[in-house]
Amino acid sequence: MADTKTAPKKLFVKTYGCQMNVYDSERMAEALGGQGYVETQTPDDADMILLNTCHIREKAAEKIYSELGRYKGLKAANPDLKIGVAGCVAQAEGEEIVSRQPMVDLVVGPQSYHRLPEMEAKIREGKRALDTDFPEEDKFAHLKSRPKAKRGPTAFLTVQEGCDKFCAFCVVPYTRGAEVSRPADRVLAEARDLVERGVAEITLLGQNVNAYHGAADGGEWSLARLIRELAKVDGLERIRYTTSHPNDMDDDLIAAHGEVDKLMPYLHLPVQSGSDRILKRMNRSHTAESYLKLIERIRAARPDILLSGDFIVGFPEETDADFDDTLELVRQVRYGQCYSFKYSTRPGTPAAERSQVDADVASDRLQRLQALLNQQQTEIQQAMVGKEVQVLIERPGRLDGQLVGKSQHLHAVHLDGPISLKGQIVRARVTESSTNSLAATLLED
Ligand code: 5AD
Ligand code: SF4
Repeated sequence: MADTKTAPKKLFVKTYGCQMNVYDSERMAEALGGQGYVETQTPDDADMILLNTCHIREKAAEKIYSELGRYKGLKAANPDLKIGVAGCVAQAEGEEIVSRQPMVDLVVGPQSYHRLPEMEAKIREGKRALDTDFPEEDKFAHLKSRPKAKRGPTAFLTVQEGCDKFCAFCVVPYTRGAEVSRPADRVLAEARDLVERGVAEITLLGQNVNAYHGAADGGEWSLARLIRELAKVDGLERIRYTTSHPNDMDDDLIAAHGEVDKLMPYLHLPVQSGSDRILKRMNRSHTAESYLKLIERIRAARPDILLSGDFIVGFPEETDADFDDTLELVRQVRYGQCYSFKYSTRPGTPAAERSQVDADVASDRLQRLQALLNQQQTEIQQAMVGKEVQVLIERPGRLDGQLVGKSQHLHAVHLDGPISLKGQIVRARVTESSTNSLAATLLED
């Protein structure tokens, strides 16, 4: 075991990819905290570097190898430096990582990082540690609980992991495994603990979060039920959740958007394409029309909801006509925010075997789609000017006396005010909209 009485060792964690990785990185740092590590903001003075990786697109995975290359000098200068790779690249590539970069000491998948303390002890003995199991035990139950230290006003909380949907382009069902929900009482306990430590807004996370079906009261709770219970926690002011699948938006969850004040009017609901032919080939099991009908019902429950989505262009065999269907769907929905990507071939997924779209054609489509999405985002932000918003103050801004926070619709809002407002929800009037944020002035009560 590590000697925790000596000077703390320094841990540098670099996180790539989705919000779930952000959450996992926090938990990994906590687990290593028990081994005598404290976090450092730079790799230069670290005793251990841990990369928490993303495998969703080829570029994301390749970034890891170039980042590892950069640490060669550090390792040469300090042979005691330990380097670990965690997350989805670790899961997907396992030993291959060590063959490509022999200086890597530790490889740990997203389902086995509760074993990090033992793995750390092993690498300190000069051995290599590799664990990409999908263990039976619940990693969260084995992880050290969060220390009671004060936290910022917003936090992520993973409630569900993995995915059984098997979209034809996606590695998640392979890297994160089958869909699993955490028991509701553990989620509630973690939420209460976060609130005690100063958190006012919690974003519930899952690769397929609205498929949540956590054990509770001898049965199972849906995400809607979990949200309704969380809303009863005093001091928790805002609840969000991400990422959802259209097929799991059940009636109760839609109703919750109209009924639960603490549930914020923002929904990330990826559709990927507007062409039924492509949706079918993507194995999405919904159509453009069923998605649009769903949006109509959600908007009926919560008219001011801001919608966000994910799109893939250049999926194998996508034609100009298919792409036009995507543009048409976007025009009908009017998104407030969106993420759009060029299809990236992922080895081992069904779509990787199919005839690929020309790279230039895909780039051109991405540009056109992004132009439309940006225009919609700008219009929706512009329409906020003059309106009153509620801003959860998160941190000081870059300018003196400036604060940055989030509106109900997840817009970043800049306003002037004292830092003592951090963690509070204030009323403000929007004065200006710029590319990715709003400016506002504080309203006195
Ligand atoms: N290529 C491009 N984008 C992808 N995504 C998932 N897999 C791929 C891929 N192979 C996108 C989807 C998903 C988001 C998280 O990443 O749009 O919703
Ligand atoms: Fe991947 Fe999401 Fe499809 Fe699951 S639902 S396979 S995580 S894109």
